[in-house]
Amino acid sequence: MAVLVQVYPDKQAASAAVAAKIGALIRRRNAEGRPAVLGLATGSTPLPLYAALVRLHREEGLSFREVVTFNLDEYEGLTGDRPESYRYFMEEHLFRHLDLRAGSTHVPDGIADDQPGACVAYEQAIRDAGGLDLQILGIGRTGHIGFNEPPSARESRTRRVQLDEVTRRDNASFFTRPEDVPHGAITMGVATILEARQVELLAFGSSKAAIVRRASGEVPTSACPATWLQLHPDCTFHLDPGANAAL
Ligand code: F6R
Repeated sequence: MAVLVQVYPDKQAASAAVAAKIGALIRRRNAEGRPAVLGLATGSTPLPLYAALVRLHREEGLSFREVVTFNLDEYEGLTGDRPESYRYFMEEHLFRHLDLRAGSTHVPDGIADDQPGACVAYEQAIRDAGGLDLQILGIGRTGHIGFNEPPSARESRTRRVQLDEVTRRDNASFFTRPEDVPHGAITMGVATILEARQVELLAFGSSKAAIVRRASGEVPTSACPATWLQLHPDCTFHLDPGANAAL
């Protein structure tokens, strides 16, 4: 098996194509009368995708009323009302612009007293929802998907992880001071991601070209967790020209 690689003229075109796939899935599920279950990512990469989804909702009447969402990850120690938290990010850039039902969006709990118990409950909630129909991913320069830093096993599940220093530096711009970036996070595991029925990874800019090449071409290994995506039967990498190492 291999990932399918699609290169677009720019990130707007890539994001519009993925938004159209999500729109088609939601409309199909709405017609069937059952919820579409989306796995979502944060970071700078999915911002044009979320803008495109908001446009589909506002301008083309795409309803998210029956959609259920699960985010990949959350920083350890941050409550959802903190602007740096991924819960806050999602509310700001996507959720508050849509007609989602209260309680239909899920983000791992960064401050749970019983973190292992909360991680098991997160996996169970995904299963109870019927499993992820479509998972959106970005990719970190360490080869992480979600916050599955190297080494992350193929079998890994939702858990607490230690963030790589490269990742902490890459994410520092979202925080007031670089030292404020948490050292830990809660993330869905590689196995959790691979169970999604469809995986759509977006990568933009030349800073991602080297890791995209490794992820799509190297033998799958815990040392580069994104390589595990090659084992997925329906995984597409959506790239702009900068992220396409073939150029
Ligand atoms: C975010 C996530 C991460 C990011 C990755 C790329 O929820 O899980 O894997 O997708 O760190 O981040 P950006 O898009 O900011 O380059």
